[in-house]
Parts: sequence; C-alpha cells; structure tokens
Amino acid sequence: MTGKNDDATVNIAVVGATGLVGSAVLEHLSDSEIPTGQVYALASDNSEAEFVDFSKRSLSVHPVSEFDFKQVQLCFFCVPAEVAAEYLPAATKAGCYCIDFSTCSRLDDKVPLIVSGVNEKDLQELDGRIVASPDSSIVHLAQILAPLKELGVIERVNATMMRAVSEMGRKGIDELSQQSIALFNLKPIKHEHFLAQIAFNVLPHVCHAQANNQLIDDLQSELAKVMHDAALLLNTSLISAPVFYGHSMMLQLEFSQDVDVARVTHLLATDSDLHCTNKQINRPDSVSDAVNQKGVYLGCVRQDTTWQNGINLWAVADNIHQGAAINGVQIGEILVKSYL
Ligand SMILES: NC(=O)c1ccc[n+]([C@@H]2O[C@H](COP(=O)([O-])OP(=O)(O)OC[C@H]3O[C@@H](n4cnc5c(N)ncnc54)[C@H](OP(=O)(O)O)[C@@H]3O)[C@@H](O)[C@H]2O)c1
Repeated sequence: MTGKNDDATVNIAVVGATGLVGSAVLEHLSDSEIPTGQVYALASDNSEAEFVDFSKRSLSVHPVSEFDFKQVQLCFFCVPAEVAAEYLPAATKAGCYCIDFSTCSRLDDKVPLIVSGVNEKDLQELDGRIVASPDSSIVHLAQILAPLKELGVIERVNATMMRAVSEMGRKGIDELSQQSIALFNLKPIKHEHFLAQIAFNVLPHVCHAQANNQLIDDLQSELAKVMHDAALLLNTSLISAPVFYGHSMMLQLEFSQDVDVARVTHLLATDSDLHCTNKQINRPDSVSDAVNQKGVYLGCVRQDTTWQNGINLWAVADNIHQGAAINGVQIGEILVKSYL
C-alpha cells in the first residue's frame, strides 16, 4: 500500500472533470469501493472557477496545466488524446497510476487495454502505470463476446454500430440540440462537427468516405487486443444516430462451427454484465432503455437463416457509463486493491 495515505485513502485526480466521461467517472467514484481521499477536478484553463458535482458536494475545477500530480495516487484521463499525451508523462513520472479513456495509449503494446469482466487478468502484466479503456462500442462488444467463447471460435463479427452524438463529447450534444431547436423554429441548420444535418437524420460516419480507414482498423485492433484473438475479424459500419446518449448495434456473429441459438441465449442471459431476457419478445430494448443503466441490453437473438454458423442479435448500452466510466472505475478498484 505504498502509494496510499496513512489512513489508507487514495487521492484521485479526474482530468476532464467538466466533460461527459469525467462527470460520469465522478458519479461512479462516489459509489465505488475505492476509499477516496482528496478528489481533484481538473480541466482546461477555460473552466477555472467552475464547479462539478461529487458525492453530494461541489468541487472547484482547477487547470490541469498548473496541477502537481505528486498530490495523487490515481488519475482518470477523460480528455482528448492530444491532451492525454501532453499530461500522462508528468502523471506517471510523479508515480501516479493513470486510467486513460482516450485513443492515446489503447494500442500501445506496453499498455494493457482492459474491459472489466473480460480481460482484467491482463493487469497482472502491468509494467508501467498507464491502463487504457477501449472505445465504448468495443467495451460493449467484448462483454457480449466473452461468454460466447466457450461455444468455440468466433471467426468474424459483422457490426452495424449506431452511435449517439455524445460519442463526440459535449460538442456533439450541443450540435444536436442547436439543430433541433433551429428546425422547430424554422431557422437554417448549421453543421460543424457532423458531415451534415444530424437532427432527425441518420449519417454514415465520416471515416467511411476516406480511403484509409484508420478508425475502423483501430476498432478491429482494440477488439483483438482485449479478446486475445488476433484472428478475430471485425467488419464494422459506423452510423451517427440522432440520439443524445446510448449506442446500438445490430450484430451478426460467425462461428467456426454450427451454433445452437438456445445455447447462445442461455449463455448471454446468465452473464452478469448482460441483460438478455424473454421480456423482450414483444418489444426489444430500445436505446433509451439502456441510457444511464449498467450493463448491455440484448435482444432479437436469432439464427442467421442464410448461414448455419451465424447468429444475429441486437444490443444497446450507454456509451458514457457502461462504455467508459463504469469500466474505468472498475479498473481503478482493481488497481487500488492490488497495486497501490
Ligand atoms: N463520449 C464518449 O462516448 C466516450 C466514450 C469512451 C471514451 N471517450 C473518450 O473520453 C475522452 C473524453 O470524452 P468526453 O466525451 O468526456 O469529451 P467532452 O465532453 O468534450 O469533455 C472533454 C474534457 O476534456 C477537457 N479538455 C479539453 N481540452 C483540454 C485541455 N487542453 N486541457 C485540459 N483539459 C481539456 C475539457 O475541459 P474544458 O471543459 O475545460 O474544455 C473536458 O473536461 C475522449 O478522449 C474520448 O475519446 C469518450
């Protein structure tokens, strides 16, 4: 317990505390098993003098640029990748364990990429002080695939991912809000962060228009790293949906052998991170059913009628909570229990 305070509490910094992921981390930290000491809310210089909520009180926000990381033992990086890249070295040099939600370290060989409940054993090989959390759709997908591993090899996953505007952070929320208000007031629509109007519209992701699709390649690499399966293929189509929160996926799973749909449903229904119940027969869970909820909600599990080794299913889950903050705080709990 070398890094803990004398009273065994842990001092924590949340970098990006004013953002969507950062505020969700603060929310889940207060319910976690981490014995929190001082909690520091950090953000850009623009947010100085702002306040954020933590455990029924307000924390004043400080600029990360002036922060001394020696004051904390655990740090959550809920900032864009370039900001994480700027401040992670100072944090690790100060001896702090860091959980990075950005793309900055996810595919670094020296950094474990962890989905709690799937591959937290990889933390045993932790060499440095950074642990990464994957893209939220990959968190959801890994949690679905993990219990199905006992059925044999999953060769390929075809995933049509419909992603909430909050995947872009607060600017995505603002753009959908402003466009919706403009539409209701018969005003012209402005788009800045999306390719076109997103309100009351559905857009293929900008990456599909590019020749070298780095984002799609990275999603495949993230899934392979978490699942320890370099041969697992992920064929992804990304769609921006006009919803504020919650990602949806229509999945087609291709196994190397015949699979029984009843067995698949049983394995999914008995996993603690998943909700797969018969109540969905009349109405599968919609994305709004999963918002602010824990777990991944599954339905429409059915045989692929065109491919005997194929199973199709529908999945919805919260991108900010289940896809990021809950995973990060669970990683933090393991680090505090076993490493600090
Ligand atoms: N949104 C998702 O669904 C999701 C899911 C998984 C992972 N992630 C990752 O999590 C990270 C945060 O995403 P988010 O959705 O929470 O974004 P967000 O709502 O836009 O929040 C970004 C946070 O970063 C801070 N920040 C930006 N530039 C900064 C700078 N130069 N110095 C210090 N702080 C700075 C912002 O502070 P100010 O308020 O002061 O600008 C804000 O607190 C990103 O790397 C994202 O890729 C997001």
